[in-house]
This record gives sequence, C-alpha cells and structure tokens, in this order.
Amino acid sequence: MCGGAKYLEIQQEVDLKPYNSFGVSAIAAEFADVTDAAQLPELFAYAGHNHLPVLILGGGSNLLLVNDYPGLVIRIALTGMEFDEGSGKVQVKAGENWHAFVSECMNKGFHGLENLALIPGTVGAAPVQNIGAYGVELEQFLESVQVYDSGQDEFRVLSRDDCDFAYRDSLFKHEAGQGLIITEVTLQLSRQWQPNTSYQALQDALDTAEPTPQQLFDTVCAIRSSKLPDPARLGNAGSFFKNPVISNDKYKKLLEEFPDLPSYPVAEEGLLKVPAAWLLDALGWKGRQRGAAAVHEQHALVLVNTGSASGEDLYLLAQEMSTSVLTRFGIALQPEVRIL
Ligand code: EPU
Repeated sequence: MCGGAKYLEIQQEVDLKPYNSFGVSAIAAEFADVTDAAQLPELFAYAGHNHLPVLILGGGSNLLLVNDYPGLVIRIALTGMEFDEGSGKVQVKAGENWHAFVSECMNKGFHGLENLALIPGTVGAAPVQNIGAYGVELEQFLESVQVYDSGQDEFRVLSRDDCDFAYRDSLFKHEAGQGLIITEVTLQLSRQWQPNTSYQALQDALDTAEPTPQQLFDTVCAIRSSKLPDPARLGNAGSFFKNPVISNDKYKKLLEEFPDLPSYPVAEEGLLKVPAAWLLDALGWKGRQRGAAAVHEQHALVLVNTGSASGEDLYLLAQEMSTSVLTRFGIALQPEVRIL
C-alpha cells in the first residue's frame, strides 16, 4: 500500500513470538509496522474493507496471547523525542522504549520519571495502564496524549483529565476508549531535582536521604532486577494480577487469621489495598511449575515462561492461582495483563 504516508507493508501469517515479552507463539493473520502516524488511517481503512479486527501492539510486555489472532496486528514503531529546555515539557512518540526514554530524560536534566526506570514496554503503552512503581504513577507527569481515533478517522489531543486515570487503569482500557490509538505523549517534567523516596522499600535500599538522580535511578533498577526477571532472559509480563482493593471490615476479619497480611492506603475511604503477591505466596505459589509455565522463584505475582510454554499453559496456571486465592481468602484477583 502507498498513499500520502510512508510506504506500508502488510505481512501475512506472522508469528508474534518476538513481539510479546512472554515469548509465546501466536499467529497474526496480518501484520504491519507503523513508522509514520499518517499510515494509521490507511491501515484502518484496509482492515475495515477486509472485515479484519485490529490489535494494536506496543512492546507486548503486558499481554498474554492465548490464541492466534485472526485480524490485523499493528505494531506502533513511531520514534522521536523533543525536549523543551525552558518549560520542562517533553513530547515523545509512542513507539519509543520506555526505559531508554526515562534514561534519556534523566541525562538531559528532565526529572520525575526516575522511579519508573526499567519498566518494560513502550511509551505508548504507559498511559494505557497508567504505569506505576516506587511511589510514582505516570499520571502525575502526563499532560496530554495525541491519539488516532479510528472510529472517527481523526487525530485528537486528550488532556490528562480526559484519560480517566486510576490505579493501573485508564480510559484506554474501557469501552469509551476503544479505537483510540496513542501516537504521542506529552509530559511535564521538572528541571529541578526533587527525589521522591516516599516508598519504604526504596528508602531502605538507598544509602542517603538525598540521592542524586542517577543514584535513585540505579537503586530502582537494582530493586527491580533483584525481584523481577528480565523478559529478555525469562519470558514474563511483570505483575500478572493487580493488587486487590478490599473493605476495611474484610481486612480486619482476614487479620484475625493472617495477622501478617500487609495493607496500603487508597484514596477511597473505607477501602485498603492488599498485595496479591503476599496472598499467593501464603498459598505456596512461589516457584511452582505447571509444565513450562511457572511462578517466579523470587516473586509470587510474576508468571514466567521457562521456555516452551504456550499462552494457554500460562493462562491455565493463572486461573489456578486466582481460584486458590478466591477459595482461601474470598478475594477475586483481577489480571493486570491483557489476555487475548
Ligand atoms: N510479597 C510477598 N511475596 C512475594 C512478593 C512480595 O509476600 O513473592 C510481599 C512483599 O513482602 C510486600 C508486598 O508483597 O509486602 C508487595 O510486594 P512488592 O513490593 O514487590 O510490590 P507489589 O505490590 O507486588 C507493585 C506493582 C509493581 C511495582 C511495585 C513497586 C502492582 C500489581 N504491582 O508490586 O508493578 O513495580 O509495586 O512499586 O501494582 C507491574 O505492574 O508489572 C509491576 C511490576
């Protein structure tokens, strides 16, 4: 295909194994890399004409492919970053690697994202699940996103408020956000360094109360690497489930039986968040294996592909895990990972 945009190639029968961090095989009927946002209208017209469903792929690091995909997979490969020295605003294209972007911001003296170092995936996927770690969530820095609205066939800019951010959640995960493809993100970062060491485990791991940006960045990387497997070596998608939010009353009851169960405050009154990893660990899930699908040795919330696991193997293991938590604690775990 060749319109006003750059030349566009559509491939048939493509194995998505290199494009998902679990490293499972799933065949996409059709596949295209988008290197110019102007290719999106063309691709959606093509999919519409051929009655193909469309799947948008970033780094594939929050995705479990259980089946082959019968439609068109569009991989967002848009790159480029612009830094505004005076205002601290940064515009970044959706296909940039998140960690490389965080590193570039820090090196250029644009601060705030250091706590989000080493999160796998692309910039465009970051707002979808409002990535967060070590006391920081993306929404704190996001000013706007540019999207292609495939339903209306137009490009639009959405403000932070439009994005309906919540814990690991946004407009883009809901019905109202279907058909919106993030092409670019604008962040308001700080030209002044002010470390965020509110997260206890981060404070504990730092040798100083006033770390430099590089020290904070390195410490976050070290904590993550010690607990979370590198997807390049061992297929995984980070935390598989969200941390569940339960009522204070339910928490009090659980404490009678499980006095060590940790909890974290949430904004809503009368509710608390509890770590899914703790619940799973208490049930002995850490290190357990079902064929080539396994639970990580160091973290009960992380499923891994030890080599030849299929999406279905991992899915069945995840189901077993959530059923056991429901049976023992009466808590329904919700996947954080998108299951297709
Ligand atoms: N814990 C266990 N067993 C384990 C692992 C953890 O009992 O195997 C306990 C820990 O002792 C701690 C609690 O569970 O009391 C929480 O563990 P951790 O600090 O590792 O954080 P988490 O709640 O499991 C969340 C995010 C991570 C993020 C970290 C740090 C979710 C679902 N996960 O993990 O995000 O990096 O906090 O902020 O919110 C991701 O989203 O993919 C992700 C890795």
